[in-house]
Amino acid sequence: MEFGPPRGMRDFYPEDLAARNNLFNIWRRAAHLHGFEEYDTPVVETEELLIRKGGEDIVRQIYSFEDKSGRRLALRPEMTPSLARLVLTRQNTLSFPLKWFSIPQCFRYERMTKGRKREHYQLNLDIIGEESVFAEAEVLSAAISSLIQAGLDEGDFHVHVGSRALLGDLFDASGIPMEQFDAVCLALDKRDKQPPEKIAELLRAEGLSDEQVEKAFGLLEINELSEATSFLPTKTDALDSVEQLFTVMNDYGMGGFVKFDISIVRGLAYYTGIVFEAFDAERKFRAIFGGGRYDNLLSSLGGKQIPSVGLGFGDVVVAEILASLGRSLKAPPSVDAQIGFLSDEERPMALSGARVLRAADRSVNLDLKAQKAKKFFTRTARSGVRYAVYIGPSERDAGCYLVKNMADTVQETASIEELCAKIRK
Ligand code: HAM
Repeated sequence: MEFGPPRGMRDFYPEDLAARNNLFNIWRRAAHLHGFEEYDTPVVETEELLIRKGGEDIVRQIYSFEDKSGRRLALRPEMTPSLARLVLTRQNTLSFPLKWFSIPQCFRYERMTKGRKREHYQLNLDIIGEESVFAEAEVLSAAISSLIQAGLDEGDFHVHVGSRALLGDLFDASGIPMEQFDAVCLALDKRDKQPPEKIAELLRAEGLSDEQVEKAFGLLEINELSEATSFLPTKTDALDSVEQLFTVMNDYGMGGFVKFDISIVRGLAYYTGIVFEAFDAERKFRAIFGGGRYDNLLSSLGGKQIPSVGLGFGDVVVAEILASLGRSLKAPPSVDAQIGFLSDEERPMALSGARVLRAADRSVNLDLKAQKAKKFFTRTARSGVRYAVYIGPSERDAGCYLVKNMADTVQETASIEELCAKIRK
């Protein structure tokens, strides 16, 4: 009998769950501070919604199955198709732009490497119904704020910003054919995982000549906007958008977090414009978060054309980066008081003390068994609780509680009212 979870899946023991909840709280707070509303959908979707033609890795990695009535279902590998389904269902009544967020668990049958699990949680921030780059700036601001709250600083990470539309303009200006542009982007996104010869082979399979492959690789080296401009005969809308986004991020006071990088193309087919991925400064880890503009996804599913922007921010990579820097998401213990008592005769006072403290919003761990004072205080000192409260016969006779502040070890007696005042939140 194996006791571990299935390969690539995680158990969350209480201390792990405390760290995960801490991250979720950071995400939720950043989303609320930026005016996003939370939504949710089932973890199981119809396979049809999730499958797209075009050779994306994510589609090959779907966990799918048949239910007892023969319906093809699947565990969601990402949230975006479910979000599209929700929006399309109410496209005539919703008032746009929508700013929605969610924290779904996603499943992908990945080849397991650092930062890649077969299950992960992902903050999704999306703005539906806004064509200006202010939408990109809002989702980026919320994601960057989360990373700062999680304990990373300006020098620890960067958001690399590219644009599929701008790359398309650059290819066009360099005489690289555009028919298979989406497929070319998917091939280029594999550059982190595959050697250049393999990428070149994929590009040739999409109809590029050797010379065009070389040109494409050359264009991906561009990492200054001014250089991109010099390749284009005239200013294009795509170039204009990228320039605007950098201006807006500067105005937001977040210019130091973003940098231009045309080689960011993303591995999902639905992106149409600006795309971005955040990396640790040394690029030792995979992307912390990634996203971009996907103006055609809703119409490709049969709905209206609604301009959309969003990102996914996983729980795995950020925790690995923090750990590598000696930082952690582990939360301090959250129990305010531990209450113990010598015998069943003192138990009623312990119960009423716990009830009064809890009614006043103080968390209490009430002992289930009677215990001698010495043992109680030794055990409580190791538990990380803030206050130890004990009732022996003398406290019972006097109608008061023995309260020890575990931080300074000062011990006092207190009435039930004083107990509440003493144990501050
Ligand atoms: P994605 O780049 O596939 O985008 O995933 C977003 C983030 O989820 C990644 O940057 C990474 O942090 C995390 N992630 C993805 N796969 C795994 C894995 N196997 N193990 C651990 N972490 C993982 C999307 O999913 C898009 N749907 C995001 C989006 C939302 N675009 C627009 N709206």
